[in-house]
Amino acid sequence: MKAVLFDLDGVITDTAKFHFLAWRDLGSELGIEVDEAFNEELKGVSRIDSLERILAQGGVADKYSSAEKDELCVKKNAHYLELIKEMTPADILPGIIPLLEELKAAGIKMIVTSASKNAPGILDLLQVRAYFNGIVDAATVKAGKPAPDIFLAGAQLAGADPADCVGVEDAASGVEAIKAAGIVAVAVGDEQVLALADRVLSSTADLSLAVLQEAWENSKK
Ligand code: BG6
Ligand code: MG
Repeated sequence: MKAVLFDLDGVITDTAKFHFLAWRDLGSELGIEVDEAFNEELKGVSRIDSLERILAQGGVADKYSSAEKDELCVKKNAHYLELIKEMTPADILPGIIPLLEELKAAGIKMIVTSASKNAPGILDLLQVRAYFNGIVDAATVKAGKPAPDIFLAGAQLAGADPADCVGVEDAASGVEAIKAAGIVAVAVGDEQVLALADRVLSSTADLSLAVLQEAWENSKK
């Protein structure tokens, strides 16, 4: 294992709940219910693709022009930024700092492969940016998760073959993207939702170099 490709929202910090709140409120303004079950399908999905899914859910995908959709995205993001602005290193999920320390000591590359355009700012708020060898710029990725593009870009940024990487995700779309890239997937969350992953952990506290290394080695057997 030469590199670990990290999702951010829901893996490094629990911003997934803030994305949910912001989409839920925007949905309710539009008369479309975004409940937790539907939100599960939005995890890992880019801002514009999430909006498209919400509008489709409400049966109004054709009602908005592309300029109006952009405005709705700006509105959602403004609310999201308001929700996350007080974030501090105390909001880093359990087990993440020990994992980053272990990987750093072992000389394993670490890359952030988040669909979020807010990723660099969040890494700064959490004061963890220095751990990472690179952040894939979500704006430059053509096809979002579940397409493999972002994880292939992550492997390239690490200078590693996809076969020598492990991806860490909390979303079904993200696990699908990792697997489509030919990368070993370790997921954190519900085993049924994340069934495609090579290994599913119930908490980030269970993440460790040994667990990632084992998942990678098992895939080579
Ligand atoms: C992903 C989140 O990490 O980033 C999604 O799981 C979100 O919920 C996506 O829509 C895009 O984020 P942003 O910050 O660019 O709107
Ligand atoms: Mg995520």
